[in-house]
Amino acid sequence: MPIIPVMPRFHLLFAFAMAILAPTVQAADTAPDIPDIEHGKATFNIMCSVCHAVQKTGGPVEGPNLLGLVGRKAGSQPGFAKYSEALKASGLIWNEGTLNRFLVNPMAMVPGTLMPMLIPDDKTRADVIAYLATLEAPEK
Ligand code: HEC
Repeated sequence: MPIIPVMPRFHLLFAFAMAILAPTVQAADTAPDIPDIEHGKATFNIMCSVCHAVQKTGGPVEGPNLLGLVGRKAGSQPGFAKYSEALKASGLIWNEGTLNRFLVNPMAMVPGTLMPMLIPDDKTRADVIAYLATLEAPEK
């Protein structure tokens, strides 16, 4: 008798586990090059959000607000007054390529920058950049 009520619950658990695992497995199997925005966001929240705001108002002020980053000139966020001369003079426009080179080691690409955080892992960096690309510019 006790085995009967246990079985359906086991099946439910199994289905639940598969629902969680399936997307991960599928992503790894079929499309290893597609960036994982959710992973990028989670990484950002751990490594970057202590200094960079990604909302319109409030948030940390150690680094510039990153809303609307992609497409903007480096060192040009009007609300941030503490940019290094090095970053302002870099002439960079932020896009996937420039962010990829910058974030692997900011100090190597822009000597003198005050941006201290490196993302050496290629996949993690791509995921974070994909997340940054979702941060739309605030309306003027
Ligand atoms: C300890 C604080 C701090 C952390 C943590 C940090 N940053 Fe920064 N970041 C800065 C500062 C300060 C600048 C301005 C650098 C300069 O002027 O040279 C900056 C600049 C940048 C810029 C250029 C922005 C612009 O307006 O030109 C990008 C992109 C950036 N950071 C991304 C990131 C990412 C992604 C992470 C996490 C992996 C991160 N930062 C973590 C402080 C930080």
